[in-house]
Amino acid sequence: MAPNKVETILTTPFDGQKPGTSGLRKPVGVFQQPHYSENFIQASLLAGLGVKLNGSSLAVGGDGRFFCREAVHLVIKMAAANGVSKIVLGQNGILSTPACSHIIRKWELNGGFILTAGHNPGGSKGDFGIKFNIENGGPAPECITDKIYELTTTLTEYKIVPKLKVDITKVGTSTFKVAGREFTVEVIEITADYLQLMREIYDFDAIRSFLKGQRVILNGMNGVTGPYLQRIFVEEMGVPSESCINCEPLPDFGGRKPDPNLTYASDLVAVMKKGDHDFAAAFNGDGNRYMILGHRGFYVNPCDSLAVLASKLEYIPYFKQRGVKGFARSMPTSEALDRVALHLGKECYQTPTGWKFFGNLMDSGKINLCGEESFGLGSDHIRENDGIWAVLAWLSVMACTQKSVAQILMEHWLVHGRNFFTRYDYENVSVEAADKMVEGLTKLIEDPKTKGMTFSDPTGRSYKMSYLDNFEYEDPTDHSTSKNQGIRFLFEDGSRIIYRLSGTVSSGATIHIYVEGYERNENAQFYKQDPQEVLKPLVTIALRTSKLKELTGRDVPTVIT
Ligand code: G6P
Repeated sequence: MAPNKVETILTTPFDGQKPGTSGLRKPVGVFQQPHYSENFIQASLLAGLGVKLNGSSLAVGGDGRFFCREAVHLVIKMAAANGVSKIVLGQNGILSTPACSHIIRKWELNGGFILTAGHNPGGSKGDFGIKFNIENGGPAPECITDKIYELTTTLTEYKIVPKLKVDITKVGTSTFKVAGREFTVEVIEITADYLQLMREIYDFDAIRSFLKGQRVILNGMNGVTGPYLQRIFVEEMGVPSESCINCEPLPDFGGRKPDPNLTYASDLVAVMKKGDHDFAAAFNGDGNRYMILGHRGFYVNPCDSLAVLASKLEYIPYFKQRGVKGFARSMPTSEALDRVALHLGKECYQTPTGWKFFGNLMDSGKINLCGEESFGLGSDHIRENDGIWAVLAWLSVMACTQKSVAQILMEHWLVHGRNFFTRYDYENVSVEAADKMVEGLTKLIEDPKTKGMTFSDPTGRSYKMSYLDNFEYEDPTDHSTSKNQGIRFLFEDGSRIIYRLSGTVSSGATIHIYVEGYERNENAQFYKQDPQEVLKPLVTIALRTSKLKELTGRDVPTVIT
């Protein structure tokens, strides 16, 4: 048999290959089943590239989690068989999600495969994921993910070059002959393009000299950001190498969930509370999420982080040169951003959860900055959320203002008031219980009496319902609609309770309850107030109304942010 022979393999569909908020995420064992990954890759190639498939070019990379290498080789072998002519691959199959988005755009590729399950646990018993990004560098929109899913339900065969051998460990270009055509794999060093982009966006000299007087900790959480942190902060900015911790990408992320929040990065919070450092950040598995802490562990809620940066974009050369048209946030993200937009006279859009919904708004020039409460923040420099970009943005603002994280937040709240925000996560509850909860809440939405009702907590604090629905979105550019994107209870005083099921879990269900209350405090005592205390009455109402405890048997959430 000729070494690069294309083979057509007969297969049958698998149930449940429906991409969620961010690609298809399942336990590793599911992806390891014969034909399972192949089916999904074949459907993604056909639906994602359509008529462009023959002769197309793709970026490929992942966060280094367990099964990444195997998946990289599968994508290469199947892309070659399906007529793709060029693959740009991160060395050893590694690329952060933001870097991959940038490479698709910079190299003008037709799309890319990002092999990651984001913040989900890794290792042989953890999760794996495959995400297809389109030529704008962003996650495929719903019209494409729906097509991918549809194809997975009818697929009868896939194409592969089983014997194609590509050395993914060495930087360089290899060309192969496949079915009479040329197929090229260009293995690239993973940090160079991304570093260059960051240099174009930020004033590195200013950040470098600011960092000289700062004691920082940057925690890669053994995800993909490690090499980028070393390259940018240690080599470029001169930060001591011991300031960058957990920077070796590991297949199991060192055994913990690579999700930068107060629970899964609690050790970083504990270190910061000692008061020996001024600034800290942690990142998720694939580098699109970030968390920022200031001196003594001062926590920056991602909703506030988005609003603060929106109000300070003039400190970032990229925005200073290009101007700013508007902003966007996912629906559950607090309305702190809307206040800034109003103040500045800019547009502010509210989208469903998932970065894919920001793509059209950025492509049409309507927005330049967007973010989500789930620790995602980004701009139109790429089409993904970008953790390291967010940290550089904060450092730029701190360098220009010479102010600490806490000072910046406090000044912000004085001008705009404070949107207190918390999210309760109930991880791994039964799908049945979660569905029952949604069913009960839907009945409330359908009951005309609910609007106008007063909801009270045991202490007598009451809130009058002004509006409720299950959020629907119409994209202002292509007018596509997305339904059932989260149940919203909006109260007369501006408070909100939102219920939504996570779209990134690999099995079972995770319930998110988002609670928000706004205060304008003339005494400027905001910083002394604990969001958990302020929001207690609303949280009590949210839990009671949803019957969460009765339905799930859960007394306490798994994570509070
Ligand atoms: C990832 C994606 C985000 C998405 C989020 C949703 O971080 O990059 O774009 O919004 O997951 O997670 P959830 O669990 O709330 O569905």
